[in-house]
Amino acid sequence: MVGWFSRLVVATTVRMPKWFVRWVSRRYVAGPALEDAVRVMKRLTGEGACFTVDVLGEEISSLDEATFFLEEYIRVMDAIQEHGLDANLSIKPTAFGLLIDAEAGMANIRTLVERAAKHEMFVRLDMEDHRVTTDTIEVVLKLHEEGLTNVGTVLQGRLHRTLDDIEHLEKRLGGMADYRICKGIYLEPEAIAHSQYNDIVVATNEAITSMLRAGAYVGIATHDLPVVNHTRASLKEFGMGPGVTDPRPNAGPPRPNKGPGYEFQMLLGVRGPLRRKLLNEGHRTRVYIPYGEKWYEYSIRRLKENPTIGVQVAKAFLLPWTNRP
Ligand code: FDA
Repeated sequence: MVGWFSRLVVATTVRMPKWFVRWVSRRYVAGPALEDAVRVMKRLTGEGACFTVDVLGEEISSLDEATFFLEEYIRVMDAIQEHGLDANLSIKPTAFGLLIDAEAGMANIRTLVERAAKHEMFVRLDMEDHRVTTDTIEVVLKLHEEGLTNVGTVLQGRLHRTLDDIEHLEKRLGGMADYRICKGIYLEPEAIAHSQYNDIVVATNEAITSMLRAGAYVGIATHDLPVVNHTRASLKEFGMGPGVTDPRPNAGPPRPNKGPGYEFQMLLGVRGPLRRKLLNEGHRTRVYIPYGEKWYEYSIRRLKENPTIGVQVAKAFLLPWTNRP
């Protein structure tokens, strides 16, 4: 059922005028400018949330375009400092040139991470599709080897390789590994990834437990109750929780501006009541704040990449009480 309905929503939305797409995406994207992101973060600070900022845009076609992202993220860092916001950065490695020239992409990312380190700010490398999984992990490993530990990657529960990646990262980084774990938004080939909801949830939950067992810092990025509830149970098993100093003997040192070994992460505009519930329970909860001129491309691309989002957006749109911001 979901298949044809999602595709219908996607097919309809991508044909709609730009103003309509903007209207639909407005709850998920802070706006076109950095000032919009600052305004949204100031508003949500009242809830007790913290943030990670994403400048919209992904794969670039020439290395010159990477300069834009580097400069814009430096502006973001300055704005975070200036406004005293509790926020860090999320970047797309391909927007820094990783797919055009791995060395040049790495150099651009290093420049940003070095600058962020001076401000004790963390940089998360979002995980894109399977073409860059290995390279993205390698960038993080190399930067840690160079002494830049304010950087971490994302792993995707849907990929078959994820448990092996956790083992590999545990060997290389021990408790210094710092993850975001999510289901994974890209619909990958069946040979390398789960495609059924239940399988994806089970695999994501296994990855969460495995990361916690490895002593890593874990950002659990989900709006899905079975994943949230599994996390709650797993935290309990390791004696972790809100306000409790991380008791794991293999845990890395406390991270500046982070939670006690873990945090929840959610997208702007999605499942506000669940976010507020987690915050009220005392869990550190980070909201992902996308902004930028490329909001239209971002919205359309996300819809095309994974048409099941179409159903969620339609549900949020037609039954807004099921998904208040
Ligand atoms: P699921 O898709 O089952 O959603 C559970 C419920 O949440 C839905 O029924 C719906 O009510 C609501 N919901 C979820 N998404 C919604 C939406 N867009 N609009 C309206 N309602 C929605 N992926 C990736 O490949 N690389 C990455 O780096 C990241 N980074 C990332 C950061 C953060 C903070 C989050 C929360 C997610 C990501 N993701 C990601 C996306 C992630 O992989 C996944 O596709 C989505 O979070 C949806 O999965 P859920 O676990 O939320 O469950």
